[in-house]
Amino acid sequence: MESFRNRLNKNTIPEHVAIIMDGNGRWAAKHGKARVFGHESGVESVRSVVEGAGEIGIKYLTLYAFSTENWDRPKEEVDALMELLVHAIEIETESLMKNNVRLSTIGDIDSMPTKVKEKLERCIDFLNSNTGLNLILALSYSSKWEIVNAVKELVQDVMNNKLKPEIINNELFENYLNTAEIPDPELLIRTSGEYRISNFLLWQIAYSELYFTEKLWPDFRKDDLFEAVFDYQNRERRFGKTSEQLIS
Ligand code: FPP
Repeated sequence: MESFRNRLNKNTIPEHVAIIMDGNGRWAAKHGKARVFGHESGVESVRSVVEGAGEIGIKYLTLYAFSTENWDRPKEEVDALMELLVHAIEIETESLMKNNVRLSTIGDIDSMPTKVKEKLERCIDFLNSNTGLNLILALSYSSKWEIVNAVKELVQDVMNNKLKPEIINNELFENYLNTAEIPDPELLIRTSGEYRISNFLLWQIAYSELYFTEKLWPDFRKDDLFEAVFDYQNRERRFGKTSEQLIS
């Protein structure tokens, strides 16, 4: 079967794709291994998808790597995930550089272990002048946390007379979110056959197309990304309008 890549319309590639990478634990169980083995294998999927996203000209790729709620997992798993992050950043930095990828994060980065923070900062600095894909890692992220924080900052600005409540609108509010400089994702993908948003980018996905696949994250590769983009390209995005209005 021909790769989905060759069937894509180059003119309607989504600018921003966000992914909820799910199913690492089940993938490990399926292979009779510990959960952390699933996370390790998931890094290969990350590599493939980052490469694929760059190849077809996606400008922003946001990966949900660690949620606020993930802190409640058993300590061994949280520690292993943090170690894996440090290791993955070390190993992948060169190839991210070669692929002209820029890196940034959203989420409560201050709550991450110092070692992770330091590695991330160094990697972000190193890749800072790249001009290709913007890879955004959501770490210790949850959308409700992000929105509440935005409200706190906004209220502070109102109290300091920097802002009049009358001028608050969608665009202004978005400036207070972690994603201030990032366009909303046109496409949100979730793997592993779960049909949930799990506190991810709730504001930003107001009009995103949602794509769910049964594949577990460690089995997901760039061709699966291309298939999702192909599916997206064959949908009609109406933004609340009628089909007829879109034609005229
Ligand atoms: C969800 O699977 C996955 C995670 C909580 C972690 C995702 C992390 C990685 C893929 C590795 C590191 C990432 C980068 C960016 C280098 P799950 O554990 O919830 O699976 P389950 O639902 O089957 O239990």
